[in-house]
Amino acid sequence: MRRPIIAGNWKMYKTIEESISVAVGLKRRFYTFSEADVVICPPFTALSKVHDQIVDSSIMLGAQDIYWEESGAFTGEISPNMLKDAGCRYVIVGHSERRVIFGETDEDVNKKVKVVLKHGMIPIMCVGEKLEERDNGTTFEILEKQLTRGLKNIAKEKAVRVIIAYEPIWAIGTGRTATPQQAQEAHKYIRDFAERSYDKETASRIRIQYGGSVKPENIAQLMSQEDVDGALVGGASLDVHSFTEIVENAVK
Ligand code: PGA
Repeated sequence: MRRPIIAGNWKMYKTIEESISVAVGLKRRFYTFSEADVVICPPFTALSKVHDQIVDSSIMLGAQDIYWEESGAFTGEISPNMLKDAGCRYVIVGHSERRVIFGETDEDVNKKVKVVLKHGMIPIMCVGEKLEERDNGTTFEILEKQLTRGLKNIAKEKAVRVIIAYEPIWAIGTGRTATPQQAQEAHKYIRDFAERSYDKETASRIRIQYGGSVKPENIAQLMSQEDVDGALVGGASLDVHSFTEIVENAVK
C-alpha cells in the first residue's frame, strides 16, 4: 500500500511573512495528520522561517530546486547541505518551468536527483509532455526519454525513494486538467517503466503524483485511479483553504 503524498509548490510567490501565514494556517489543520504525507515547498527565502513554524507538526518542508555541487563558485545556486540546513526533506527536481524557461536538461535532472538522494532527502522528479507532443501521439516516447535519462545509474534501493510527478505541461496553470483516465494511462506507463527498469516490487513501491490544475473539486477522482498516489499542486496550494480541502479530499 503506497502512502498518499500531497505537495504544494508555491513557485515564485509569497514573501517570508506571507509564507509563514500560510504555514501557520495549514499547521492548525495538519498538526497531527497520519493519512498522507503533506509537503510544502516555499521559495528559498522563506524555507528556514517556514521550517521553524512546522517543525513540530506532521507537515514537511520541500525545496523547488537544487544544485548538484557541494559548494563552490556557483553564483546564485543552492547546495544540498544548504537545503538540509534549512530543514528540507523533499526537493522538486526538473519541474517543466525549469526545463522550458531555464533550459534544464534530462542530464541536469539526473545529477540533481542523485545529489538529493545522496544527502538523504527525497526527490520529486517531474516529467511530462507538451501539448504538441500529446497531439502528435508522442507522450509515451517523451516520458520514456525523461525517465530513462532522469533515473540513469540510480540503483533500485535508491529508486524506490524517488517520487515521480507526472505533470502534462498543457495542464499546468491552465485550468485544463488531464482527465482521470489520461492521468491513469500515463501513471501506468511510468509504473511499467519502473518494472522494466527495476522489478515488480520496486515498481509497486514507487509513488507517482499527478500535477496540473489540481483543485479541491478534481482531486478525489484523480486519486481514485489505481496508479495515482498523490498530487503536486501549484496555484491551489497558495491558499490555506484550497490546499486543506485538496489534502482532505485526497484521502476521503
Ligand atoms: P498548477 O501547477 O497546479 O498551478 O497547475 C502545478 C505545478 O506546476 O506543479
